[in-house]
Amino acid sequence: MKIFLDTSDLKEIRRATDAGLIDGITTNPSLVAKVAGDRDPKEIYLEICETVNGPVSLEVVGVDRDTMVTEGRKLAAIHENAVVKVPLTEDGLKACRQLVSDGMRVNVTLCFSVSQALLAAKAGATYVSPFVGRIDDISGEGMQLIHQIRQIYDNFGYTTEILAASIRHPVHVAESMMLGADCCTIPPKVLWQLSRHPLTDQGLEAFLKDWETLGANL
Ligand code: G3P
Repeated sequence: MKIFLDTSDLKEIRRATDAGLIDGITTNPSLVAKVAGDRDPKEIYLEICETVNGPVSLEVVGVDRDTMVTEGRKLAAIHENAVVKVPLTEDGLKACRQLVSDGMRVNVTLCFSVSQALLAAKAGATYVSPFVGRIDDISGEGMQLIHQIRQIYDNFGYTTEILAASIRHPVHVAESMMLGADCCTIPPKVLWQLSRHPLTDQGLEAFLKDWETLGANL
């Protein structure tokens, strides 16, 4: 399963790329608004694309098909790593079809149902992004959606990749893997939580204590 970092924060992106742990980045307008300050978001997008050797999802902000297509072309022109992100609306699906026909990769985002995911695949999306955490937030079962999408994509041979998004904790990541999501986009905090286990810490402490008794160096 591919791991993407869900952030526009370059410091976090560098920390994860230095560790060689991530396959790409997803951003959205809210994430870029958190870090941009006075900077032009397009500059930040370019810097992210130059930092990461993998797909970087950059989202349109228009709501009609033509504006989304125009913005999508501009975003794709920023860098070869750019993937155009469009919302899962009627216009977003039309824009997706057009952008894919023009040779761009498209991530269809804000997916909350299996029927929406079917239409994303029909529109030729490269990725579909089901938001599991936001479904859980309203007492739904986000992971059930991943399971359903995997089933219909496998039933009919759709090649659109399932990109589990709105990930809130390590269990979401583990379940996404178990259910066959192709990719999972993870906030930095959750990425580092994945590495931690109290038994690892306890085990390491005991090993180092025992080693000290030898008074030896490696
Ligand atoms: O990339 C967008 C998605 O992951 C949003 O997550 O936590 O705002 O629901 P969240």
